[in-house]
Amino acid sequence: MPCFSGSIAKAAGFDILSCVKLKGLILSGGTGSRLRPITHTSAKQLVPVANKPVLFYGIEALRDAGIREIGIIVGDTAAEIKEAVGDGSQWGVKVTYIAQEAPLGLAHAVLTAAEFLGDSQFVMYLGDNLLRDGISDLVEAFIQNGPDALILLQKVPNPEAYGVAECRDGAVVKLVEKPAEPKSDLALVGVYMFTPAILECARAIKPSPRGELEITDAIQCLIDMKKRVEPHVVQGWWKDTGKLEDMLEANRLILDVLKTDIAGDVENSEIHGRVVIEAGARISNCTIRGPVIIGERTVVHDCYIGPYTSVYYDCELRNSEIEHSIILEQSRVLDLRARMEGSLIGKNVRIARLDHKPKAYRFMVGDNSWIGIV
Ligand code: DAU
Repeated sequence: MPCFSGSIAKAAGFDILSCVKLKGLILSGGTGSRLRPITHTSAKQLVPVANKPVLFYGIEALRDAGIREIGIIVGDTAAEIKEAVGDGSQWGVKVTYIAQEAPLGLAHAVLTAAEFLGDSQFVMYLGDNLLRDGISDLVEAFIQNGPDALILLQKVPNPEAYGVAECRDGAVVKLVEKPAEPKSDLALVGVYMFTPAILECARAIKPSPRGELEITDAIQCLIDMKKRVEPHVVQGWWKDTGKLEDMLEANRLILDVLKTDIAGDVENSEIHGRVVIEAGARISNCTIRGPVIIGERTVVHDCYIGPYTSVYYDCELRNSEIEHSIILEQSRVLDLRARMEGSLIGKNVRIARLDHKPKAYRFMVGDNSWIGIV
């Protein structure tokens, strides 16, 4: 196959990636401390957004950009991630799992993947990030322009929660990880494109005050070495789903483009707006106001299910009102007296009204849980 520059290759119908070695590296280690207690028992990258694990959106973004070899960094939740993703064949990609001994930082994860990466250029994708427009255009720009790194940025109202970039005359001059006093409102989005030069810098840096080898410091090292680090401001929405509010917001954004599809049974119910009822689900005596997705084999009876609600598979909802919430698999919500909203309910949870005396609240709730009652 002859090699051409991007636009010529595109016009001639060639796959631009056939001319360069480009791999994907998805980071799915880490502890997910901000989504506890959900992440006490599960990987945060597997929490579903519109009934699909966040991680799958990342795999699809890499696949859609033409990447076929993907390394996934895994930590304590390796078994669960391997079970969900398998060998990657369901997406037509080859997945290699890379065990990171502990979550010692994003640059540490890159070093752990050194053997997998070899001398390839690569796209690093944080497994809990979601980008509306995917990354195909950015991968093409990276290959065509040939910088040493391409970083994605977006203006945010709370830059202190992210890596922050200072740019001058279209170039990145300084990067700082979660600064107390940010010098700009440009946050680093969790997708980066690198040449192997980043490995040298990841080896050169020291752990940050939080004890991690920060990718931000490794990119700063590239800048200090006068390597070319190109910024790209992302226009479509981007979400880091590491916190409850961001997870609910990501769910809202994905449900906003939902297409109606009723595969399950609907009886004596009103369905308004865009609603997906997956196969085997049974809806009876309900009002469902979309956008809403109800998962496989879930039973919903005598309920109001309001906008921006995702209910995963094998759940049971009865005699309750729920909106703007995510409910994970095999959970049950029964006979609530007030509407539930803005909630993230884990797997196999039961919320129910008890009739027996003494009349009292009874909880069995994990560490770091949050309950609001009326
Ligand atoms: O979301 C964008 C932000 O992601 C950037 O603005 C920051 O510069 C960047 O450091 C990162 O910050 P977070 O604090 O959000 O990173 P977090 O610890 O949540 O890790 C991101 C992903 O990488 C997550 O899926 C877990 C995984 N991870 C994390 C670490 C520290 C690993 O696989 N290994 C690790 O050692």
